[in-house]
Amino acid sequence: MAALLPVLLAHLLLCAHGATASAAATPPPLPILPVPSYAQLRWQLSEMALFLHFGPNTFTDSEWGTGRADPSVFAPSALDAGQWARVAARAGFRRVVLTAKHHDGFCLWPSALTNYSVAASPWRGGAGDVVAELAAAARAEGVGLGLYLSPWDRHEPVYGDTVPYNEHYMGQMTELLTRYGEVEEVWLDGAKGDAKKMDYMFDAWFSLIHQLQQRVVIFSDAGPDTRWVGDEVGVAGYTCWSTFNKSSVTIGHTIAEYSRCGDPYGQDWVPAECDVSIRPGWFWHASEKPKNATTLLDIYYKSVGRNCLLILNVPPNSSGLISDEDMQVLQEFTEIRHTIFSHNFAANATVTANSVRGGQDNLQFAPSNVLEDSIYSYWAPQEGQTCWEMLFDLGQSASFNVLQLQEPIQLGQRVIEFHVDILIDELWQTIVEATTIGYKRLLKFPVTESRYLKLSINSARADPLISFFGVFMDSFSGKYNLENHNKRTNSSEVIMLRTGSAAGNRSTAAM
Ligand SMILES: *[C@@H]1O[C@H](CO)[C@@H](O)[C@H](O)[C@H]1NC(C)=O
Ligand SMILES: *[C@@H]1O[C@H](CO)[C@@H](O)[C@H](O)[C@H]1NC(C)=O
Ligand SMILES: *[C@@H]1O[C@H](CO)[C@@H](O)[C@H](O)[C@H]1NC(C)=O
Ligand SMILES: *[C@@H]1O[C@H](CO)[C@@H](O)[C@H](O)[C@H]1NC(C)=O
Ligand SMILES: *[C@@H]1O[C@H](CO)[C@@H](O)[C@H](O)[C@H]1NC(C)=O
Ligand SMILES: *[C@@H]1O[C@H](CO)[C@@H](O)[C@H](O)[C@H]1NC(C)=O
Ligand SMILES: *[C@@H]1O[C@H](CO)[C@@H](O)[C@H](O)[C@H]1NC(C)=O
Repeated sequence: MAALLPVLLAHLLLCAHGATASAAATPPPLPILPVPSYAQLRWQLSEMALFLHFGPNTFTDSEWGTGRADPSVFAPSALDAGQWARVAARAGFRRVVLTAKHHDGFCLWPSALTNYSVAASPWRGGAGDVVAELAAAARAEGVGLGLYLSPWDRHEPVYGDTVPYNEHYMGQMTELLTRYGEVEEVWLDGAKGDAKKMDYMFDAWFSLIHQLQQRVVIFSDAGPDTRWVGDEVGVAGYTCWSTFNKSSVTIGHTIAEYSRCGDPYGQDWVPAECDVSIRPGWFWHASEKPKNATTLLDIYYKSVGRNCLLILNVPPNSSGLISDEDMQVLQEFTEIRHTIFSHNFAANATVTANSVRGGQDNLQFAPSNVLEDSIYSYWAPQEGQTCWEMLFDLGQSASFNVLQLQEPIQLGQRVIEFHVDILIDELWQTIVEATTIGYKRLLKFPVTESRYLKLSINSARADPLISFFGVFMDSFSGKYNLENHNKRTNSSEVIMLRTGSAAGNRSTAAM
């Protein structure tokens, strides 16, 4: 049987095998531009961040404070940033992002540039600093720190006067980026409120931020380092490129479809971040309840599983703690993910490909590299092919309904379109057709059973490279009939895809 296997596998691949070349010292494939920076790669690998909306709004039952709430309302009785960071770490969130200042202008740290801050509140007798407490807690739990500093400030008297306000904002940014150690992410947006004739000097802000924190990523709806996905429900486009033209958009004036899907011709690496709140509002309200764990799982598939970072808002309550019901849901969400993704039916698969860079014997780019959970080991095909196929023999028949694919994005994002088939009664049947992969692609489909799977890449921007392929069973979300999970939700995404495929090539041997 063992001797027959390679023959059988070769027979199952449709494309001809590439000629076997010398395996000696084959250089790695060239990167395809654009590629991520160190900070962007670190951001992407972190997969999930926990957003913490907290401030006077938490106590006044509002979402957008007017900037006139008395600082005395800020009076959490039991604030424990250690609890926030622990909740994040235990649920697999590798970063916490705090609203250091929201639109109301109230600062959660004692800023020297305003009196509208924790220093004017009764909390810790006016000597408290939420940012400092969270920074210390995050360090202790091994999670990164991110800070949101709202440009729109409804309290600050110089707001509306371009130069003084921009300098004021940069002064507050300097406080945040010099007092609390490493900051991994700065969050901001273009919100301005009531038609103020004032400019935000974004380029100057970005220079300052990168000057003070070399390894930070800056989020806004249009980048520079990570872009808003274009909705607040945490869902990315079915097609989602990390490539994007910064020159095509400006902050505060993005195009929803462009943000959702990115651009296969984009000149800049600006991956998308999906923000969503666990509750209806961004701030805590006694009357609101969190979403359930299967809803969070669905969001996970449509954000992390579509090449994005998920930033899930879990707002601390007016005691200054994350509520029990939110912790309960996060724990369930964590257990569900663990149950699904800790059992990979392909873990011990025999993997072959119709070609291997440097020849079939070249271990450096071997098909079996895709079984390793790392973007730094990957399968690469022989150069200049027009057909790319990988075959997986699971060793025995298995039932599954989820696939996970990954690309080594440090070398750029490549795959435009692919499909996966299973062998049923000696015939290949397509179970899923999809577009981009990027850092991570999760695909869910009706439960299916097979021993053999075949991945075919229809088109790519350059030689496609695959760093991970996994096969899983999700017995949680099936029950809740997730509608249109793998359907392209918008025909304009298909148009984008067709346009995109002009850059690569379609397999003439596709099923
Ligand atoms: C803060 O309040 C004190 C006392 O009223 C005042 O002297 C100071 O100028 C204020 N600082 C700012 C930045 O508004
Ligand atoms: C992005 O830039 C590239 C190169 O200039 C261009 O080909 C492409 O059409 C641009 N995309 C958009 C949406 O403008
Ligand atoms: C979870 O919430 C969704 C949306 O509200 C609902 O459709 C689903 O039935 C809920 N699932 C469970 C297990 O309660
Ligand atoms: C906030 O959450 C904690 C649990 O972490 C709970 O004990 C407390 O009662 C909650 N506070 C309010 C106001 O709901
Ligand atoms: C793969 O092999 C390991 C080690 O023998 C074993 O523990 C694991 O259960 C196997 N996984 C599958 C999916 O067969
Ligand atoms: C698809 O996108 C277009 C352009 O952004 C939009 O006009 C249309 O409403 C969208 N359709 C759906 C079904 O979301
Ligand atoms: C795509 O494939 C066709 C047919 O195999 C070939 O003629 C064409 O040159 C290829 N195009 C690219 C961009 O590789």
